[in-house]
Amino acid sequence: AYRSRGIHAPASLNAVTETDLAHFASILAPSSVISSLAPVNSPTDELDPFNQDWMGRFKGNANTVLKPKTVQEVSQIVKWCNERRIGIVPQGGNTGLVGGSVPIGNELVLSLANMNKVRSFDPVAGILVADAGCILQALTDYVAPLDHVMPLDLGAKGSCQIGGNVATNAGGLRLLRYGSLHGSVLGLEVVLPDGTILDQLTTLRKDNTGYDLKQLFIGAEGTLGIITAVSILTPPAPQATSNVILALPHFDNVLPLFQTVKRDLSEILSAFEFLDRTAYDLAVKHGQGKALDESEVEGAQCFVLVETSGGRREHDEEKLNDLLEKLLEADEPLINTGVVSQNPSQFESIWGLREGVTEAISKEGKAYKYDISVPVATFKDCVDATRDHLESKGLMRPDAVKYVVGYGHCGDGNLHLNVCAAAYTQEIADALEPFIYELVQKHRGSVSAEHGIGAMKTHALHYSKDAVSIGLMKQIKGIFDPNGIMNPGKVLE
Ligand code: FAD
Ligand code: MLT
Ligand code: ZN
Repeated sequence: AYRSRGIHAPASLNAVTETDLAHFASILAPSSVISSLAPVNSPTDELDPFNQDWMGRFKGNANTVLKPKTVQEVSQIVKWCNERRIGIVPQGGNTGLVGGSVPIGNELVLSLANMNKVRSFDPVAGILVADAGCILQALTDYVAPLDHVMPLDLGAKGSCQIGGNVATNAGGLRLLRYGSLHGSVLGLEVVLPDGTILDQLTTLRKDNTGYDLKQLFIGAEGTLGIITAVSILTPPAPQATSNVILALPHFDNVLPLFQTVKRDLSEILSAFEFLDRTAYDLAVKHGQGKALDESEVEGAQCFVLVETSGGRREHDEEKLNDLLEKLLEADEPLINTGVVSQNPSQFESIWGLREGVTEAISKEGKAYKYDISVPVATFKDCVDATRDHLESKGLMRPDAVKYVVGYGHCGDGNLHLNVCAAAYTQEIADALEPFIYELVQKHRGSVSAEHGIGAMKTHALHYSKDAVSIGLMKQIKGIFDPNGIMNPGKVLE
């Protein structure tokens, strides 16, 4: 769909040639080079996974993928590309959901997959320094026996990389508790678009020495440079965690429930996640997590997952049980039922219902994903208005749009509004945009709460950012990357 808007790599950029390839081959180990050009001649199925995004919606045409092993190698590649005006797409785990991680034309893909070592961990301060290509789950596993947790968690944890997380300023399931990466990331090592290595890999909690340059790369989606290492604050592991899935008779109960849960659980509340009925049913249908008993969820309009993380199990359980009792025994209960996990496997399977929605939707069809910040009170209205709009266009039918689904990080005011279709078509795309962006603008929301702009939303940036801000963003891009080689066509048009 994005191709029909005429998005393409700038004509001023060059494709990788055999001469360029020979240069890269002189810097890198043979195993770090995949290319359809001679003399490497890799088969296209080796390039395909780097050219195709997670949703199967965005497709690039890179003839070469490089997988450097050191920051010096990254620097040499980037310097050459800058001199030769070759576009570069930095790629982490390629789990991004806005088409930012694959080329829009024939840019070079620079994968961080071979830069995957932990550099240091300070167990007293809880500060981890790791190569950008470390997989999030691997880092979680690394700090766990050292009694720490990563400050972020997301459904893509088995594939996404910490560098990609920082580049997208990923939010995820722990933001309510530990805040955004703008707070947790203490330092970065970045290769700038001319090949210079910017060493801001500090491990200081406090550092007020002028402009905080690293913040610019957090959420820049690879448009200002390549993150090669990250210094990040990891919180102490909670001594006790629990979760509960709550079935609600009406969406209107979500806000009062959130207020009650925040007040009653206070310091032990660590997640408040939302699924509408369609999201829950799809997760169950596709075997994500464990379904509640049929009788218990009859008549439920939506679901909320509450997680607690605290310091003493008995204390936390008492608080959670008191809350449930109060909720169920109220004159007009806010919930129909609530099922508390009794052991680690039930804990995982309750999370599976929520984390598995993305996967379930992708098994059901092709997802148009809108990741918006809007007031929580409007979540249902946004989903209903979109469904009604598609209905009015005659598109709510099995061979066009199958479902309109709402789920997300309710505690952060972030709704994932997904339209699950039989196929990606121009007719559906035209029905959804600008309709959804205008809806967001009406609520003074954001067109991207956490997934970013990528290639998908460059044309929609103005719905959430004013002209002055976009002008400054363009100036910053011009200072860092005057030749426009770094992830062209992403974030800014
Ligand atoms: P990629 O997809 O490879 O790249 C994403 C962007 O970052 C691209 O623009 C790319 O050019 C750039 N980039 C990658 N690595 C670097 C680097 N080292 N230096 C500079 N730029 C770089 N996102 C959320 O925010 N919250 C969620 O809860 C969440 N859940 C998800 C669940 C599933 C099942 C899936 C598939 C995705 C989910 N996402 C979520 C989206 C995605 O996983 C995140 O955006 C993730 O942070 C991307 O990391 P990655 O390594 O896969 O990056
Ligand atoms: C989530 O919260 O599940 C992720 O952001 C992925 C998605 O939006 O599908
Ligand atoms: Zn999310």
